[in-house]
Amino acid sequence: MSIKTGVLNGVANIEIARPEKKNALTVAMYQAMTEALKAAKDDPAVRAVLFTGQPGIFTSGNDIEDFMQRAPGQGSEATDSPVFQFMRALIECDKPVVAAVTGAAIGIGTTMLLHCDFVYVSDEARLAMPFVGLGLVPEFGSSLIVPQLMGHRRAAEKLLLGDPFTPEQAVECGIANAVLPAGEVINHARRIAERFNALPPGAVRESKQLMRGPQHAELLKTIRTEGEIFARRLRSPEAMEAFQAFFQKRKPDFSKF
Ligand code: COA
Repeated sequence: MSIKTGVLNGVANIEIARPEKKNALTVAMYQAMTEALKAAKDDPAVRAVLFTGQPGIFTSGNDIEDFMQRAPGQGSEATDSPVFQFMRALIECDKPVVAAVTGAAIGIGTTMLLHCDFVYVSDEARLAMPFVGLGLVPEFGSSLIVPQLMGHRRAAEKLLLGDPFTPEQAVECGIANAVLPAGEVINHARRIAERFNALPPGAVRESKQLMRGPQHAELLKTIRTEGEIFARRLRSPEAMEAFQAFFQKRKPDFSKF
């Protein structure tokens, strides 16, 4: 099973566990994570959610084979797809969400961090949003949130060039709370999540709701627009070239476009 779930001390842990494919996320894994988030929401004993990965890898992002074989169609087929359902459940989660970034977090691995409440990164972690290099576009609000966090110029390095963030840069620009030694990141994140056992859940829930603020409607609108363009681009010749190059372990050739 590539998603492991369990509740311990009031914390629902969602562990991404597909190390042989660098924790690449498949349709089935998005579905399992959506179910886990719904179960966490419905269980009053759960006070916080904790995402973890494997040593050296948080997730390498969407499974590129799935991008090629199971790309959702346009319109509602795209916005009801398993990845959309997962991200919607994450964005709307009314309990605090903590991420322990145990290693590389690529593509949606970084995008999902933008929607967590607390992010702790291992000193071995690398974050990257290489969507353009894959013939794609930023997703799930990252085209809005990343420029807001760091300004247009630095966002252009991350979103247009796909340059990775060091763990320190992730903290400096506000994507992460702190950098921890690799062996300590999960325990630290768990301790933060467990602090919610001592806090009143109603006040936490309503405060989180307030923190979304008036910009939440703009975020949802951006996510819809990004999703439509992303779904169209998944079928583009540029994306096909990038996906094939990945599996053929060569550099993509965009000179013909
Ligand atoms: N989708 C599908 N398979 C993936 C994958 C992904 N996102 N990321 C890694 N894998 C697979 C590789 O194809 C390889 O499979 P194989 O052993 O059958 O050849 C295996 O996982 C190990 O990956 P590999 O690239 O050899 O490991 P690495 O340590 O050299 O590099 C990464 C690790 C994460 C840097 C690299 O795999 C990578 O860049 N992955 C793609 C990231 C990406 O572009 N994600 C999509 C963002 S939208």
